[in-house]
Amino acid sequence: MGKDVIIACDFASQEETLSFLDKFTGRKPFVKIGMELFYAEGPQIVRDIKARGHKIFLDLKLHDIPNTVKKAMAVLSRLDVDLVNLHAAGTKAMMEAALEGLTRPDGTRPLLIAVTQLTSTSQERMTEELLIEKPLPQVVMHYAKLAQEAGLDGVVCSPLESSAVHETCGKAFLTVTPGVRFADGEVGDQVRVMTPEQAKKIGSDYIVVGRPITKASDPVAAYERCIREFVD
Ligand code: C5P
Repeated sequence: MGKDVIIACDFASQEETLSFLDKFTGRKPFVKIGMELFYAEGPQIVRDIKARGHKIFLDLKLHDIPNTVKKAMAVLSRLDVDLVNLHAAGTKAMMEAALEGLTRPDGTRPLLIAVTQLTSTSQERMTEELLIEKPLPQVVMHYAKLAQEAGLDGVVCSPLESSAVHETCGKAFLTVTPGVRFADGEVGDQVRVMTPEQAKKIGSDYIVVGRPITKASDPVAAYERCIREFVD
């Protein structure tokens, strides 16, 4: 898969999500389904969106013992999603088990990426509460390397970390980056942001864009603008 824009469909119900997606009569966007929508509507929401021709990033961030993650991943794989994720903190054994679970009998599987440290985790909290004493950027890069060693396809990271991840893990290791805003748009609660054009320049493979598209007066136009700036 090449560079693409993934719309974060952070809606609370199937109704809201499908009426939003109804607006896209041309190109069918790659969409991200997160915990809120998945827990509200269950796996049927994935089947419904898939049946409409969208690619799906199922953002459930799995983290449990390897055997449980393996079995859960097998279920998600049967839902025919295109991209799923987990927490690298679950260890290499858990990531390897996840890959095993995801791999279908015919050898195909969804892409699997890892969350390193959540961007909501500060250096201070990580040191004091998690007792991880290394500098945060070093921890992020270490987890990215672990994910790569386990055979994963990439990581979710800040666009500001994309270049460093590619330097450490190579160009083929995917970086999927939220925190994207238009140059003339509202930033909202995101702190460190980049425009789609900047994210393209620094080498992000996928950008995850929520409110700049979902809350736009013309979501289709906002999506097309993202595509123009990031992909074309
Ligand atoms: O609306 P906005 O563009 O800020 O949405 C970004 C999406 O990416 C949301 O679904 C958010 O949960 C997700 N995300 C993020 N920062 C991370 C990881 C995920 O914004 N570090």
